[in-house]
This record gives sequence, structure tokens and C-alpha cells, in this order.
Amino acid sequence: MTAVADILKGRHAGTEVQLRGWVYRIRTVGGKAFVVVRDATGIVQVTVSRDAVPADDFAAVERALIESAVEVRGTVAKDARAPGGVEIRASHVRVVHFAEKFPIQEDLSEEFLLDVRHLWVRSQRMTTMFRVRHTAFDAVHEYFREKGFWEVHPPMITPAGSEGGSTLFEVDYFGRKAYLTQSWQLYAEALAVAMEKVYYIGPSFRAEKSRTSRHLTEYWHAEIEEAWAGMEDVIEHAEGVIAHTCRRVADERPDDVAALGRTPEFLKAVTPPFEHVTYEEALKILKSKGMELEWGKDLRTLEERALTEGKSKPIVVTHYPKVSQAFYKARDPARPDLVLAFDVIGGDGVGEIVGGSERETDLATIEKSLAEQGEDPRRYAWYLDSRRYGSVQHAGFGMGMERLIQWICKLDHIRDAIPFPRTPARFSP
Ligand code: 4AD
Ligand code: MG
Repeated sequence: MTAVADILKGRHAGTEVQLRGWVYRIRTVGGKAFVVVRDATGIVQVTVSRDAVPADDFAAVERALIESAVEVRGTVAKDARAPGGVEIRASHVRVVHFAEKFPIQEDLSEEFLLDVRHLWVRSQRMTTMFRVRHTAFDAVHEYFREKGFWEVHPPMITPAGSEGGSTLFEVDYFGRKAYLTQSWQLYAEALAVAMEKVYYIGPSFRAEKSRTSRHLTEYWHAEIEEAWAGMEDVIEHAEGVIAHTCRRVADERPDDVAALGRTPEFLKAVTPPFEHVTYEEALKILKSKGMELEWGKDLRTLEERALTEGKSKPIVVTHYPKVSQAFYKARDPARPDLVLAFDVIGGDGVGEIVGGSERETDLATIEKSLAEQGEDPRRYAWYLDSRRYGSVQHAGFGMGMERLIQWICKLDHIRDAIPFPRTPARFSP
């Protein structure tokens, strides 16, 4: 079998190929059926002439509705009128399965497409994104493995969260309360003392009722933790992994990203270093744009948009106020009211792609922060052991894979960066 993408690249011009796939579009004119066939890699036109195949087979093709499964053999010919400039002149065609009338026709509402997501995943828009996503995941694994990080896996069922109780999904664990993980963070810190440089990509869960174009309740989280490292060291990795992923996607999927909305040239220019500003500098920039944000308040979508306006690379914001930050973030020794935390912020409304920090190493300080946030330090006893036995400087971050893909592909909505999105309103199909 030959992949459609290979045929479109012109590799098989003039030769006979065999392919199989599903009917994407079909029309019959006179004695010819023009069948656009889709496989995992793209769509190509197959022209079936009445006099080139047995009469029964032609009749079968004429009856085949959209999404019927077909097998084709034929010769590849250049044809400017066909999508992609290539068509296959069939010498043999077989309808493997006659589809019923496909529910997805033109001009359907976003809600309906979410109801039939299991069918919408076949669309060109979705399959194009899946290919980019495939390459993006590979690039992230490749980057960290090449930098000497070990892939180590945390549990998904946990006794406590790291990012505050309000966004935890509760699970009934044989009559006891457990939670779905929000981040591997607490486990990563235990693992960093064992393996020094660790990473993983897995699902994270957030019970956030935010109905925005960049929030999911279940997303894929790429996270790292590095011992003997500070904030600046892991910022370099955050920039490095984003740049590497952009480069791989641009090199390997130029047509796919272009179809989704970004040029490969744009992605190739995403090279380190990115622009860095401290939180306080960001407030000044915002003020110069006529936007007042009270010191200590988080940057919202509005402010993130203003800061990234006109920028073709993400920016890095560092040194956030300690107020309302997670308990594990290290204080800035020069400014105890700040923490050594950073975010990487992308433009086009995507916002925070990466969040990370250096971690507090002092046991008493963390215990105090936990208590201040209304947490019971006894529940974190196991976690605090890393500060009892060989506590060293360490830092890490988490990167939302769908946010990254949303930014790379310039997607309007994060739900189009994942096959089956989970949002507050929906967890099916
Ligand atoms: O900023 P967050 O909450 O940081 C942490 O979880 C840290 N413990 C990570 C670490 O240091 N190991 O989340 C990290 C990233 C965000 O920058 C964002 O890209 C993504 O996870 N993210 C979401 N993506 C989609 N939907 C949501 N609801 C998300 N919440 C966070
Ligand atoms: Mg964050």
C-alpha cells in the first residue's frame, strides 16, 4: 500500500500504486467517478472511468457514500485540476464497506461537532493537527533525552495536590479520598534527588470551571525537574524545548502547519534566547500601554496579550510576587517578597505555555508556606523528606502540550489541539 502523502510528493508519477482509505468526496460526471480518497496522511483524487473497470465495480463506486471504505489500484498522473495536482487513474476499485449517510455535512455548529467528535476526528483539520501533535511529542521527548534527562513516571492517583486544592478532581478510592494529579511536581522533587535530571509527559487534571479558549480539564503535561540547577538553568530548557519543537514541526510538517495557520519560516525563527522581563518590568510596560495592574495580581489574558503584542517569539516573565504562589517556590534571596518563578507566555491569545520555578530548599520555610495556605504540613510529610535528606538546589517546570500545539499551529481554541477534549461542560464521547 502507498500512503497518499507519498503520492502527493510526486514520488510515484507514471507508476502503478495501490492504496486504501475512505471516501472523502465523490461526484460522478458522465462515465467518470471522481473519488477523493483520504488516508492517515492526506487526500488524493482517484478517477474511475466506466470503461476502465468491471461494470459491477463501477456501479458499486457510484453507490458509495462519503466515508465508505475503498481499495484502489491505479496509475499516478499529474493533473492540475485535481487537489494536490495529482490524480490516480484507477484500473481496479473495491468498496470494502458501504457507509450509511454520514452525519457530518457542511456548516455544522461547534457544539454538534463536539457531540460527534468520534467522527470529526476524521476531518482534514483534525488529522492535520494529529500529525503535528505526533511530531511535537516526539520532539519534546527527543530534546530532554538528548539533554540527559531520564524519563520517570509519577502516579496519577495522589493523596494531595501541588497547585492548590481548588482545582483537584476527587476520586473515591475504596472509601477514602484521593485526587487525580494536577502535576507531577511533588514526585518529581523526590525523583530528582534519585535521578538528578528527570522528565515525563503525561496527563494532568484540573477541575477548573474556566470556559476559555485555553483551558482543558484534562491536558498533557510535559514536566522536568533538575537537581543542582536554578531558575535560569531551567528557563534555558524551556526555551530550548520550545525552539526544538518548532524547528522539528517546521522541517517535517511544513504543509500541515501551513494548512493550520503558521508558516514554517515563522517557526524556524523561534530560536533562543527569548525576551525576558521581570514581573515588575512587565507592570511598567503595561503602565506605558495605559494598563494598570496592582502589584501582586496575576497577569490575566488581557495583560498577556498586551505584553506579547507584535512579538513573534514567546516571552519569559520572571520574579513573581510571593503572594498567592504555590508553597514550593523558592524565595528570591535578594527580594524576599518575590519568588524565583517564571512563565513562558505565547502570543495570539494562548498565554502561559510554561510555568516553572526554583524550589524552596529550606524545610521550615516550606512548612510555614504550607500552613499559610491552609494546608496541613503532615499530609506532605513524605514530600518534605527531600528537605531532610540531602536537600539541594533544584528547579523545574511544566509545559502544557496543548498550549504549545495551539501556539505552534495558531489555533483559535485549545480543544482543537487534542483528539477528545475534556472541558467543564463535557466529558463525552
Ligand atoms: O502553571 P502550572 O499550574 O504549573 C504546575 O503545575 C507546576 N507544578 C509545573 C512544574 O513546575 N512542574 O501548569 C503548568 C502548565 C501551564 O503553563 C500551562 O501550559 C498548562 O500547564 N496548563 C494547562 N493547560 C491546559 N488546560 C489547563 N487547565 C491548564 N492548566 C495548566
Ligand atoms: Mg502557572
